[in-house]
Amino acid sequence: MPLPSDRQVSSGQPEVLWNSPFLRACRREPAPVTPIWLMRQAGRYMAEYRAIRSKVSFLELCKRPDLATEVTLTAAEILGVDAAILFADILLILEPLGFHLEFSKGEGPIIHNPITAGSDVDRIIALEDPQALDFVYQAVSQIRRALKPATPLIGFAGAPFTLACYCLEGGGSRHYEKAKAFMYRDPGAWDSLMERLVDATAVYLNAQIKAGAQAIQLFDSWVGNLGPDDYRRFVQPHMTRLFARLEPSTPTIHFGTGTGSLLELQRDAGGSVIGLDWRVNLQETWQRLGPNVAVQGNLDPVVLFAPRPEIQRQVRRILAEAARRPGHIFNLGHGILPHTPVDQVRALVDMVHEISQN
Ligand code: CP3
Repeated sequence: MPLPSDRQVSSGQPEVLWNSPFLRACRREPAPVTPIWLMRQAGRYMAEYRAIRSKVSFLELCKRPDLATEVTLTAAEILGVDAAILFADILLILEPLGFHLEFSKGEGPIIHNPITAGSDVDRIIALEDPQALDFVYQAVSQIRRALKPATPLIGFAGAPFTLACYCLEGGGSRHYEKAKAFMYRDPGAWDSLMERLVDATAVYLNAQIKAGAQAIQLFDSWVGNLGPDDYRRFVQPHMTRLFARLEPSTPTIHFGTGTGSLLELQRDAGGSVIGLDWRVNLQETWQRLGPNVAVQGNLDPVVLFAPRPEIQRQVRRILAEAARRPGHIFNLGHGILPHTPVDQVRALVDMVHEISQN
């Protein structure tokens, strides 16, 4: 007799995984509880993470599957969340494409050889050999093997626009003037850059799915800097092509911030789940997006610095806005901030579970 957790459904997934609240919500099926996970759930706010980081650099941590596995599992266990997210970074893919990446203390990521001219796009190396990021796929399969059978694992990548911003700015930016000026000045080179990023990202994500990820999140963190017309011209066709190339039975989460005016366009590009930040009302926005997508969000990460009654008030508000409609995944509107107290995060997870199951 197979154990209940060993029984498989037609997807080839164990039944307990297929029926997990997170994957049910991705498919817009009712779940006994609103699932919650948190962007940046493994990070500097957690003492266990800082202990490992005191011994290895951030890039080394990402490139050591044993350590990436430990960090991923520890965060999921401490918090009691409904999904684990692979520990990695959206910028890792840029190395095999030919960019020199550094994470400097205090300054954040730096690309030492950014694109400055249209002709630079031709020097990008294609990610034909998915083995280039083998350490990521090894981490995915190790995490999957070590994770509780009922806990889904989310793989991820940066969306092409957000990656292109790093390739052109050489690091973080406030106004993205280099990236946007390049886009307006040389739309042909822009399209070529985006196409190369789409090609590489499709290979990368399908390899993560093959290695054991049950869902995928695309982080278009900086796309909210574009107005709707520019999004339609310069981003949407590329996102559409990317979603069309992903393994079709795996749920996808399409995330961005500052995207209130772009959400319908993002939905039309693809994604089973649309990520919402805290600047929008969940109920109104879900209405706008219609019945064919699930939503993820959308607590302001700064609320985790508020007194417990305020956190609880905001959790109740968001759950009331979702109104038990199947397909809501609770999350923050953006990642956990580095000084967030861990006990507040744990309290949030418990509140969402307790309030949503009554
Ligand atoms: O969510 C998770 O727990 C998974 C791990 C994860 C990291 N980065 C770990 C990380 C994920 C999903 C990311 C995505 C990522 N990386 C994004 C998109 C998400 C977002 O926040 O919008 C972006 C823009 C990056 C690029 C990046 N990586 C930046 C700007 C920084 C520096 C910021 C900072 O806080 O220093 C990183 C480094 C980084 N990525 C850290 C972590 C835990 C901190 C590194 C450290 O230990 O010092």
